[in-house]
Amino acid sequence: MNTRLLHDTQEDLSIAAELIRHGELVAFPTETVYGLGADARKEKAVRAIFAAKGRPADNPLIVHIAGLDMLGMIAAEVPPLALTLAGHFWPGALTMIFPKRPEIPSVTSGGLDTVGIRMPSHPAARALISLSGCPIAAPSANRSGLPSPTTAKHVMDDMNGRIAAVLDGGQCEGGVESTVICFDDTQTIHILRPGLISQEDLAPYAGRVYVDHAVFEQIAPETKVASPGMKYKHYSPKAKILPVDAPDFDAFVRYVRQHWKEHTYCLLFDSDPEPDGIPCLHYGDSGIRQAHDLFFRFRELDELGAALVYVRMPSQSGAGLSVYNRLMRAAGFEVIRL
Ligand code: TXA
Ligand code: MG
Repeated sequence: MNTRLLHDTQEDLSIAAELIRHGELVAFPTETVYGLGADARKEKAVRAIFAAKGRPADNPLIVHIAGLDMLGMIAAEVPPLALTLAGHFWPGALTMIFPKRPEIPSVTSGGLDTVGIRMPSHPAARALISLSGCPIAAPSANRSGLPSPTTAKHVMDDMNGRIAAVLDGGQCEGGVESTVICFDDTQTIHILRPGLISQEDLAPYAGRVYVDHAVFEQIAPETKVASPGMKYKHYSPKAKILPVDAPDFDAFVRYVRQHWKEHTYCLLFDSDPEPDGIPCLHYGDSGIRQAHDLFFRFRELDELGAALVYVRMPSQSGAGLSVYNRLMRAAGFEVIRL
């Protein structure tokens, strides 16, 4: 299959929308990461997403909508708390889990009777959904297990020849995937996957907001978890990723020098100085900047031929928790604690 590279123009958006209507796969930019989209109601098209990614069939997809009118087509029930959150955070990087309507085939929801829904804010994503008139099921557009793509080039690297088209909308602003939440009861928000919309951001709207334990620890493959995506090793470049929890930069550098081998790199904060003789990349200082850079740097490190990467440990507060979670997942939860 020849994968077309489309651009963010009216003409190309119409071509992309037409492809979606015909049951083809189109990767498109969102404000978080690139998604690999198909009509969420077409079973065959959705199966093709799983095949193109090599994704386990029990890992459900997020359905993307352009307006609240589409919500009723997909969700069987929408609690008042969800509507409040939609008012504050949609369009944006928040995915909410609802009981699903029968029109959404079970392949889309990974066999669950619930469905994750998100209204993205990226103009190209919104145009694609509106022009096609379809709710669009879209996981991140990477091959399963690899870091999520934040540029059209990353998508091409993973998907060229496997999908109909990639819509190039430049580099994604967010850099990590959306915050995924479900509702335990009318007043409780349960964060299944942290994103740039943090626990602190959600707190004013609910009685209680808590983060699932799978965000902090490795889950055995047979375990039943609230969000199937959390049990798979993820986001990982070819290089081995090793976060180092050091009391300060000097202790970090000392450790790396003692353990340095060929093809070892460091991933540092922007404000860290370059240590002599150790190849380094930087990934921001704040949670927001680190989120923007993390997956991009992972893919760069693979291009550089890194075998092992020591990473400065991000903070776990606010948006930082999303960075911490992706890093720990990439490392299989192995950490060097000094
Ligand atoms: O920012 C994003 O969320 C991106 C863009 C493209 O929108 N999408 C994305 O999709 O990251 P994906 O498939 O890579 O991750 C979806 C996550 C998985 O961890 C999945 O298990 C969880 O959401 N999820 C989806 N539907 C669910 C459901 N019904 N119940 C529990 N978890 C669900
Ligand atoms: Mg993904």
